[in-house]
Amino acid sequence: MAKTVKTIGVLTSGGDAPGMNAAIRAVVRTGIAKGMNVKGIMRGYAGLLQEEIVDMKTTSVSEIINRGGTILYTARCVEFTTAEGQKQGADICKKHGIDGIVVIGGDGSFRGAGKLSALGVNTIGLPGTIDLDIACTDYTIGFDTAVNTAMEAIDKVRDTSTSHERCSIIEVMGRHAGYIALWCGMANGAEDILLPERYDGNEQMLINRIIENRKRGKKHHIIINAEGCGHSTSMARRIEAATGIETRATILGHMQRGGTPTCKDRVYASIMGAKAVQLLAEGKSNRVVAYKNGEYVDFDIQEALAMTKDIPEDQFEISKLLTR
Ligand code: ADP
Ligand code: F6P
Repeated sequence: MAKTVKTIGVLTSGGDAPGMNAAIRAVVRTGIAKGMNVKGIMRGYAGLLQEEIVDMKTTSVSEIINRGGTILYTARCVEFTTAEGQKQGADICKKHGIDGIVVIGGDGSFRGAGKLSALGVNTIGLPGTIDLDIACTDYTIGFDTAVNTAMEAIDKVRDTSTSHERCSIIEVMGRHAGYIALWCGMANGAEDILLPERYDGNEQMLINRIIENRKRGKKHHIIINAEGCGHSTSMARRIEAATGIETRATILGHMQRGGTPTCKDRVYASIMGAKAVQLLAEGKSNRVVAYKNGEYVDFDIQEALAMTKDIPEDQFEISKLLTR
């Protein structure tokens, strides 16, 4: 018989992502609607260890669904990766009467959530990252907003690149994953898309294509470079030297993590937040809420962490075909 969950906590951890606030709002309001007490844990696991814990009311999450970032702040916390840190975290939860936690973050945050679960605090993970690099899910909170933000920025760079008949290398985020680059590459009609999962470092091929395209009359050459492929600025210098074509690098950086979340991120994050509380109410623990093949589902955290995913080959092939 599952014990009744009376008090739950919610925290955001790792890199922030637009839509996290919608998820927090859904956790708070669903929890309260189910008769639970809800506590906000500030600054991820770091705030848990510092006991930065605040009571949440339905009005604590008013006016946030449209805001980027996370009202709970976020952090990376080395101390929590140690057994002592985790034990201290679980003890603090018990001290505050917290018998369930929703952790919004990426794979690293889920590892921490798994540890809390093993120490008797029911935990549910929600996938929050702009990188889309969580294997168990086709959707992560923030990706949709990030690619739309990047797409709009790249359109602007494209205008000036065309006017000056330049080559432009535009670096997008994604850590070791190329999903943002693939989506923007397609959406922005880039001439080349460099993905860490596929790029073999053959810069000469790239240079040849730039020269060929220029001969065919192309007025610009847009390269979307996933940050995991390497430095855009030095690549720009080498390409300019080899082609004689003016080349500029633009690193979009943290602007991709901010801004008002898209409708999709608000709605999916809201549904996932509510589902997380539903799982806690059912006495479940050590689960990750995911969106897979068009459905909201949940997985065991360790099973989710053991899954792998890759850029879909057909999508990669289509992206290459369309750059011709
Ligand atoms: P993300 O959650 O976006 O993958 P990180 O990898 O930076 O981001 O992880 C966020 C936080 O999760 C870390 O700062 C740390 O506090 C916690 N964490 C990461 N890995 C572990 C682990 N193996 N055990 C416990 N906690 C972890
Ligand atoms: O995981 C999200 C992300 O923005 C990655 O795309 C990027 O590599 C990293 O975080 C940047 O981290 P920081 O905010 O610490 O610079």
